[in-house]
Amino acid sequence: MENISITDYTPAGRPDLLRLLLALQRDYFAENAEMQFQELRREKDTARSYEKYLDHIAEGKDDWKILIARNESGRAVGMIIGSISEDEELVLGKIGQFEDWFVEPDARGNGAGMLLYHELEKWFKEKGCQQVGSDTWQGNQLSIKAHERAGFFVSGVKFSKKL
Ligand SMILES: CC(C)(COP(=O)(O)OP(=O)(O)OC[C@H]1O[C@@H](n2cnc3c(N)ncnc32)[C@H](O)[C@@H]1OP(=O)(O)O)[C@@H](O)C(=O)NCCC(=O)NCCS
Repeated sequence: MENISITDYTPAGRPDLLRLLLALQRDYFAENAEMQFQELRREKDTARSYEKYLDHIAEGKDDWKILIARNESGRAVGMIIGSISEDEELVLGKIGQFEDWFVEPDARGNGAGMLLYHELEKWFKEKGCQQVGSDTWQGNQLSIKAHERAGFFVSGVKFSKKL
């Protein structure tokens, strides 16, 4: 098993992060999500959307965490992005959320995904979060398995319809 190290993202790693984000949201999504859902999520310019997303994170950086997994040769093979929000009406109102969790196909099944998640969860706890949320699309078995492994239960079902 290869040694994986987890480090905080720095702006110097932006090209790596964009590569991993596109591999998740463009390639993996296109290969695995149902066509009718892909149609609803199709972006005008995916690369530009992710540039804007990273700019948005940089502006509110105290409430965001980006972690990168590197293999023994230093290549960035995975990432996870989490954010924190507050719902004042809830008893457990400080909420960690993660949306982008990806490990390159060649590096999967080697523990990188769990290392990324546990490091993010540690940060959520340090920041006082009382619950964690995440979602994925219907049928993304890899994601569902990995979430179950990380201790999540399925808490909802989303519906979509094209008009
Ligand atoms: C989800 C993902 C990040 C996990 O990364 P990973 O490095 O493979 O994760 P790990 O090696 O730490 O394995 C974590 C768990 O995932 C599951 N898993 C890993 N590889 C699997 C495979 N080939 N088939 C089914 N389940 C698998 C297992 O339950 C595993 O835990 P276990 O080995 O202790 O049983 C990775 O599979 C991925 O990038 N998937 C595609 C993108 C995606 O769906 N991201 C989530 C979007 S919300």
